[in-house]
Amino acid sequence: MLKLKRKPSITVAKTAGFCFGVDRAIKLTYDALAEGKSVATLGPIIHNPSVVKELESKGVRIISAPSEAKAGETVVIRSHGVGSRITDELEKQNTEYIDATCPFVARIHRIVREKSSDGYVILIAGDDSHPEVQGIIGNVVENAQEGVFVFKDIDELQKIFEKNQNFFEKKVAIIAQTTYNNTLWGKCIRFISENCEHPQIYDTICSATADRQSEARELAEASDVMIIVGGKESSNTRKLYEICRECCKSYHIEDASEICGEDFSMAYSIGITAGASTPAHIIKEVQTQMSENVKIMDEEFDFEKALDESFKRIYTGNRVKGYITAVNDAEAVVDVGTKHTGYVPLSELTDDPSLKPKDVVSVGDEVELIVIKVNDAEGIVTLSKKKVDALVGFDTIVKAKEEGTVLSGVVVGVIKGGVLVSYNGTKVFVPASQATLRRDDKLEELVKKTVEFKIIEVNEQRGRAVGSIKEVAKANKTAAQAKFWESANVGDVIKGQVKSITDFGVFVDLGGIDGMVHRTELSWTRIKHPSDVVKVGDTLEVYIKELDKEKNRISLGYRKAEDNPWETFKAKYNVDDVVKATVVSITPFGAFAQIIPGIDGLIHISQIANQRVSKVADLLSVGQEVEAKITEIDIENQRISISMRALLPEEPAAEEAEAATEEAAE
Ligand code: F3S
Repeated sequence: MLKLKRKPSITVAKTAGFCFGVDRAIKLTYDALAEGKSVATLGPIIHNPSVVKELESKGVRIISAPSEAKAGETVVIRSHGVGSRITDELEKQNTEYIDATCPFVARIHRIVREKSSDGYVILIAGDDSHPEVQGIIGNVVENAQEGVFVFKDIDELQKIFEKNQNFFEKKVAIIAQTTYNNTLWGKCIRFISENCEHPQIYDTICSATADRQSEARELAEASDVMIIVGGKESSNTRKLYEICRECCKSYHIEDASEICGEDFSMAYSIGITAGASTPAHIIKEVQTQMSENVKIMDEEFDFEKALDESFKRIYTGNRVKGYITAVNDAEAVVDVGTKHTGYVPLSELTDDPSLKPKDVVSVGDEVELIVIKVNDAEGIVTLSKKKVDALVGFDTIVKAKEEGTVLSGVVVGVIKGGVLVSYNGTKVFVPASQATLRRDDKLEELVKKTVEFKIIEVNEQRGRAVGSIKEVAKANKTAAQAKFWESANVGDVIKGQVKSITDFGVFVDLGGIDGMVHRTELSWTRIKHPSDVVKVGDTLEVYIKELDKEKNRISLGYRKAEDNPWETFKAKYNVDDVVKATVVSITPFGAFAQIIPGIDGLIHISQIANQRVSKVADLLSVGQEVEAKITEIDIENQRISISMRALLPEEPAAEEAEAATEEAAE
């Protein structure tokens, strides 16, 4: 008999024992027996000899294939599930069957069926000899069986990728056996994300397993000895044992008889956990045996009651806390501390249409949720984060109204009479008159934008709030204007946006203040209209030319000194240089011809030809290229004179011409 030096504590893990799926399968088997059916299970209903033995004593047979079913027998498909070939066979031979496949496993079947028929390569993290994995493979559509790969760990996964280097271009979906190790899974999905372009990742690890494993680790870390109860064949029990033995001395037992007489005298604290297929009564027997062993039997302890209480019940409308265990493109999976798996669809995570689940929550986050649907048969609970946010959000809204706080939210849509802004899940109505600064601004342009607004009206009873974006925009504009006038100086360079264009210039929005750039300030070259240089919406870098703080007027400059063509001309040309110029305009007193862009020289009417010219247009036309000599440069007054005549041979004087004529006559 055990001799104790002290009284160790005994702690039973809250998650020890039957999981939802196993519990359901056993209940369905007993229900069938209660209905007087003759029952056979396709394989042992669970990996627990005592449960199997008890069922056998009630006449339940174990068969390994549908063909072994006797006429009139009802076949129970256990929680691991089977491939579709098995159910087809049962149907073909007209055998009644009860599908006790765990709903979480059935979900995996649905995924692989859908994805394999869509041409995806299916990667399964798990043990390919395990019936659950075989059942999953058996649900891949027939013509896609070659695209299914099972791997135990990251090494095997890497090898699969080495052999199939075209995976990068293929559509790849990855799922896990429900009892797969979380840490290994993390490594595998990291590898998949790095090596496939758009992998479809489905975290199908059952949270019951993850919870049981993490509680086992915590308990083992705090204990000197761990007792792990469950069938020696049960993979989830073996995994618990592996986890615990990393932390302390651990025993994997199938029932209490294995520890009878064991000496735990060195232990201060003893922990007990059990696999998913271990019935509560066996855990209780072990706990009782341990108590006897250490002579500290707690008369008050009602194990079944405690076990029962450890499973929280959950109802529609409950506000619950949970931890995010997985996030995919369509939903977040939550552990709410019950037997159910919680799902928060994207539509219940946020109203913001631009966000994906991973933008709202991350694995490990603790979140508050409202239960919107409980499906006990499938062990699924649908939850809403948005609704909790809305409740919290409305409290903030009421407070914001009282305190005049500026809030920030996303415009989620245009409705009759205004827009709806989502603030922490609460919708705030903003009437059209309060939505924009200018009446003609389009409400549609606000959609999906983050806006600042103030609450101007709240109806707490109806849970409604009215806001104003305009009030905040107006206040921001006034503040920006005050700041501008306080700090602006002539010469300051500022960026602004072209707001409107007129014949005489453009108006530029400098962030709440409008300034004008005169058309002559837009370019150094001749322009027909300001729209030749800028368009509405352009961002310009302008400088302040003149500032009238009293009249709130600003003149802006846009063209830059370094682009001044007079500087270029000065550096390149001198008087007497011969230039090629293009006639750009004709006047009664001469013609202007462009020497370089922005610089025109005047060819006076007297400088066009040697003889007298009565009409400029008789000799020159716009667009004509001429050769002329620079006769005068007046940079100060920005005037250039050029002469075509200066390049012509000189005409003889009148008397000389007369003498020459007379000589010719003699
Ligand atoms: Fe189902 Fe999870 Fe149990 S998958 S069978 S509830 S361990």
